[in-house]
Amino acid sequence: MLTIPQCDPRAGYLAHKEEIDQAISRVLESGRYILGKELATFEQEFAAYIGVSHAIGVASGTDALHLALRACGIGPGDFVVTVSNTAVATVAAIELAGANPVLVDVDPDTFTMSAERFEVAIQSLPPDQPKAVIPVHLYGHPGSFGEILAVAGRYGVKVVEDCAQSHGALFQGKKTGSFGDVAAFSFYPTKNLSAIGDGGIILTSDADIAERAGLLREYGWQERYVSYFPGTNSRLDELQAAVLRVKLKYLDEGNHRRQVIAKKYESALSEFDLRLPATVPGATHVYHQFVIRANNRDELKQHLANNGIGTLIHYPVPIHQQPAYAGRIRISAQLEQTELIAGEILSLPMFPELPDAHVEAVCDHIASLERLAFV
Ligand SMILES: Cc1ncc(COP(=O)(O)O)c(C=O)c1O
Repeated sequence: MLTIPQCDPRAGYLAHKEEIDQAISRVLESGRYILGKELATFEQEFAAYIGVSHAIGVASGTDALHLALRACGIGPGDFVVTVSNTAVATVAAIELAGANPVLVDVDPDTFTMSAERFEVAIQSLPPDQPKAVIPVHLYGHPGSFGEILAVAGRYGVKVVEDCAQSHGALFQGKKTGSFGDVAAFSFYPTKNLSAIGDGGIILTSDADIAERAGLLREYGWQERYVSYFPGTNSRLDELQAAVLRVKLKYLDEGNHRRQVIAKKYESALSEFDLRLPATVPGATHVYHQFVIRANNRDELKQHLANNGIGTLIHYPVPIHQQPAYAGRIRISAQLEQTELIAGEILSLPMFPELPDAHVEAVCDHIASLERLAFV
């Protein structure tokens, strides 16, 4: 029986093994492991790739969000609107900054924030309290981002883009991460651009936000050993930066392969009673995940597992229903779409090195179950 993983971080290393091994050796031999040349160069290269002026490498995507919020001046008592159908990190980062998360519902087609619900949430919050919104470009797609930016602009709400899943995705011809006041990326090993451990980066074209984020990541030091305000230790290390510099060269190629795989899934699965991922006009999806909706999701997941095919659910329990948050986190109106999709979504195998034969095997096994559902 074939074994097909849902994701395979090792394949991304093996595809460029020689170059990555050389980059790792270069760092090991340099003796400079923190805040050196590799990070400074990667920061410049990634900022140029996304189309912003400043980049600050940090230890994780969670830290990138947390420090981006603080660098924007968001802190205790302030409100940050986001969604419940996201990685828990989005909400954890808001609380790390001392702010109050406010969760709103998503669009059923794109699984991303409903602009209408965002506006309702903003209208329900105290007018004088500073606010931010974190649109999450979930699964590699910016969703109703244009409308969200318009609402944020109308109400003076800061925009912190969560780009942990959208490296290279476009909206109206520009990269996600170049629209908001600031953006946060993760380089967790399964991401479209991934490190060999944890990593993240803050991007902005605002020089003041960049300066504050740079100080926050290293104890608030303006000069060595002297803190001007309380910061933390969150630095993207040289080893990760060197590996990311190699992988950045292949990001577009990897995203293109993800799009080819997505097309294969779409053409093989369109005849069945499944909902396939939508792409809004003006957006380019980079398919961090290929997420379908199925009424018989649990049966389908089990059927694929019985045939050696790995799938995942992103995310099985909405954040407002998780024990750490249930009953105490603020939600704006009902989150009915969020609750509905949690029982129906399924992430199929998706990574650039996934061979065509494996994509076809996944489709065949889905077809064999779905055809049975018709008889
Ligand atoms: C949408 C989203 N936001 C934030 C994060 C946090 O990133 P990290 O795992 O690097 O802290 C992740 C990654 O898991 C994510 O998928």
